[in-house]
Amino acid sequence: MTPSTSLSVHQLGFFEHNGFLWLDAITTPDEVAELRVIYDGLFDSSAGRDEGSRYELGEHLPQLIEPSRYAPELQETQYVANARAIATQLFGDDLEPEFGEHMIYKPPRVGSETPWHQDQAYHDPGLRYRNVNFWLPLDDATVESGCMQFVPGSHRLAVVPHRHVGDDPNMDALEVDTDAFDRDAVACPIPAGGCTMHASYTLHYAGPNRSETPRRAYILVFRATAVPLDTPIDAYWQRESHVS
Ligand code: NI
Repeated sequence: MTPSTSLSVHQLGFFEHNGFLWLDAITTPDEVAELRVIYDGLFDSSAGRDEGSRYELGEHLPQLIEPSRYAPELQETQYVANARAIATQLFGDDLEPEFGEHMIYKPPRVGSETPWHQDQAYHDPGLRYRNVNFWLPLDDATVESGCMQFVPGSHRLAVVPHRHVGDDPNMDALEVDTDAFDRDAVACPIPAGGCTMHASYTLHYAGPNRSETPRRAYILVFRATAVPLDTPIDAYWQRESHVS
């Protein structure tokens, strides 16, 4: 598939300065319609259950890791081609060929929030990750339905303290252990088929789905080679006992 979009110099500068960006379209309306069918088929099936790649991120927040294992046609989309092209603009030769993918479903009215976090808080504390996440909604994403929100410039911060959600080490989800950032957040409502992008250190959040429509999100993660840190991050929340 040939890429059909690229970032302008202005957009590249915005991403570098703010650590996030949004696009009104990263794929076509026709492909969005096709992706909805694939997405619903996967969540209606038992895909990923036996392999442990299908689980609840939180209450009413099912996630499917590596959806293209179950629907290989997902590797050949305009979305993937465009995201790869944009990641190449950002990272050049440092871009790794493999990319990550997952789908998160927030059902109408009950889909819970994704708390404030930096993705790096989940990662190997001995490495500085240089990922770019593409977050594509298959439904119009509004503040009410749980669109993405970001703290501009937070990608230049160190990793801030995190804790397991609810201070429960059995919860996989992490949240920032301070409330100093939310007030500076920028919400990014985007139409179905648009996307947001963010970096590994960018503080981000998605609200609960209080709307009457589902919020189906399909995320791709492209990576530049991670850099070993002389002094590892003190990710003490990763050392807390984890029963499961
Ligand atoms: Ni995240």
